[in-house]
Amino acid sequence: MERASSRRPAGDNDTELDVHSPAMRRLLELAARAAQVDSTVLITGESGVGKERLARFIHRVSPRAQGPFVPINCCALPEALIESELFGHARGAFTGALHDRPGLFEAAERGTLLLDEVGDVPLLTQVKLLRVLQEHEVRRIGENRQRRVNVRLIAATNRTLTVDVAERRFRQDLYYRLRVVDLHVPPLRERLEDLRALAETLLTTIAREMRRAISGYTAAALERMLRYPWPGNIRELENVIERACALAAGALIDVDDLPVELNQSYAVAFASPNIRPLREMEREYILAALQRNDGNRTRTAEQLRIDAKSLRRKLKGYVAA
Ligand SMILES: Nc1ncnc2c1ncn2[C@@H]1O[C@H](COP(=O)(O)OP(=O)(O)OP(=O)(O)O)[C@@H](O)[C@H]1O
Ligand SMILES: [Mg+2]
Repeated sequence: MERASSRRPAGDNDTELDVHSPAMRRLLELAARAAQVDSTVLITGESGVGKERLARFIHRVSPRAQGPFVPINCCALPEALIESELFGHARGAFTGALHDRPGLFEAAERGTLLLDEVGDVPLLTQVKLLRVLQEHEVRRIGENRQRRVNVRLIAATNRTLTVDVAERRFRQDLYYRLRVVDLHVPPLRERLEDLRALAETLLTTIAREMRRAISGYTAAALERMLRYPWPGNIRELENVIERACALAAGALIDVDDLPVELNQSYAVAFASPNIRPLREMEREYILAALQRNDGNRTRTAEQLRIDAKSLRRKLKGYVAA
């Protein structure tokens, strides 16, 4: 179930993770300590920050390293399938259940199960999940007997689960059970030291894969990259570098090889010779963020780090103006 898009640089054993920023160093230290015990870990952070990567790191440095690492993406599965994927089913348990089938908890025996996008687990399944975590036993759908499981659970989400708890989309008891250890991966824009190192490492890997003799970035290109807010974090950085690597004419990636958004974020602020009113800039920025999220206000508010009410108030103001 490993994601095909995950890039695994040759020779990279994930223990380094290109960590240079103090915040990430602290986080990795904490993760390495948490790895030694079986406590449930909740990894939070924006989309593409490297949550799955951190989960793999925890598994790798844990005493369970010889066991399997099993990731499951809860939002990619239809509701009806999640339970049978997680807990397994007996033959005939439902239409189409032709064979007995163990679930992913059993598949992760003596290893680590990563529940990605745990915020998308339906409420009824959350109850069953909590029971499995408390009792270390699963019951396959359509079976009466419990089976003991020995699994370390890591959950990940890019949502603010406390909001989901407050709005009763996520069970509070499960939330507390999951976040025994809470690891927040900061967005790329808050760790520019890492951005620089990641840009170098990713370029080396991608250029090698593409067989292109590109050795670095021009100072101007790097400056644009450092100014851009990277809403898609490392995944977006990876895609931008891949594109630039394909397009670059010279040995260095230049401003023209970067996609238009990177040049725009720079241009918008300085397009006019006069300093523009902050309120106007804020309006443009907020509307652009909303557009990038296809009008999803919850996600936009989360990314802007304001509460949904403030966002609603601001948007109302724009309509009234
Ligand atoms: N330290 C790193 N070095 C190189 N590549 C990295 C690093 N961290 C993450 N990546 C790459 O960035 C991409 C996103 O990482 P990952 O899937 O771990 O993020 P995520 O937070 O789980 O994303 P999502 O929220 O979309 O599930 C992957 O392709 C991964 O290989
Ligand atoms: Mg992920």
